[in-house]
Amino acid sequence: MALVELRGVTKIYDLGGEKIHALAGVDLDIESGEFTSIVGPSGSGKSTLMHILGCLDTPTGGAMSIDGIRVEKARPKELARIRNRKIGFVFQFFNLLPRLTVQQNVELPLIYMGYSAARRRERAMEVLGLVEMDNRSRHRPSQLSGGQQQRVAIARALVNEPRIIFADEPTGNLDSNTGEKILQLFHELHAGGRTLVLVTHDPDIAGLTPRRIEIRDGRIADEVDTRLVRGTEQSRFALTRDDRDAVGDSPREA
Ligand SMILES: Nc1ncnc2c1ncn2[C@@H]1O[C@H](COP(=O)(O)OP(=O)(O)OP(=O)(O)O)[C@@H](O)[C@H]1O
Ligand SMILES: [Mg+2]
Repeated sequence: MALVELRGVTKIYDLGGEKIHALAGVDLDIESGEFTSIVGPSGSGKSTLMHILGCLDTPTGGAMSIDGIRVEKARPKELARIRNRKIGFVFQFFNLLPRLTVQQNVELPLIYMGYSAARRRERAMEVLGLVEMDNRSRHRPSQLSGGQQQRVAIARALVNEPRIIFADEPTGNLDSNTGEKILQLFHELHAGGRTLVLVTHDPDIAGLTPRRIEIRDGRIADEVDTRLVRGTEQSRFALTRDDRDAVGDSPREA
C-alpha cells in the first residue's frame, strides 16, 4: 500500500446553486521517499488537492488513505490528529503566528503532542538548526526576511517528524534567489529520505523534481516519472502517465 492513496477523489464547492467541480476524480499513489511536483493552470485544482492531501479539508467523494488510515470520512478532530502526527504543511504566505517567537512557532505542533517544555525546546532548536535559523530563535516573524520566515515555516513542518510534507507554492512569495535556496533545502530533505509534494507555477522548479503531475480541470492530465527512465536527459520528458500504466511493473510498485 502506498503512503498516500487517492481513488476517484472529487471536490465540489457549492456556492448556493452554482456547483464548482474543483476536483473531478483524482487517482494518485505517493510512495514513501518520493519528491513530486504538481503543476497546472490557475484554477485547475492544485490547492484544493493539496488541502485534501494535507487533511486540511475533506473530499466530497472518493476514497483516500494516509499511512494506511482512511481519512475521507474522518471528523474534524480525527483529521486534526492525523495532521498533527503524519503531515507537515508549508504555505505560500508562511502562516507564522506574529506574536510568537520563531522558537515558539516551531514548538507549537509539539504542544498538541504533549511534549514537555524542555523536549519542545530541544527539538525546535534541532530543526531550526537544520534550516539554519537557530540563531534567530528569539526573533518575531516580522523581524525576518521572507526567505527566513519560510525556513522557519519549514522547520515547523518538520518538527513532528511527519510522514509527508506538502508545500503549496512555497517560493511563490519570494524573489528568485531566495526561492532557489528554499528549493535547495527541499532537495536536501528529499536526499535525507523525506517525502515531499510541492505545488508550483514554475516549470523550472517542476523540472527538477523526480516526479511531476499536471492537473487540468480537476483531473490528472499528465505525469512524468524520471525514475522510470534511466539514461538520457531528453528522455526525462518522454514518459507520460499512459506510458507508465503500459509499463505496469514500475520500480515504485516493486
Ligand atoms: N473555498 C472555495 N469555494 C468555492 N470555490 C472554490 C473554493 N476554493 C477554490 N474554489 C474553486 O475551485 C477551483 C480550483 O481552485 P484551486 O484554488 O484549487 O486552484 P489552483 O490550481 O490552486 O489555482 P492557483 O494556481 O491560482 O492557486 C477554482 O475554480 C476555484 O475558484
Ligand atoms: Mg492554488
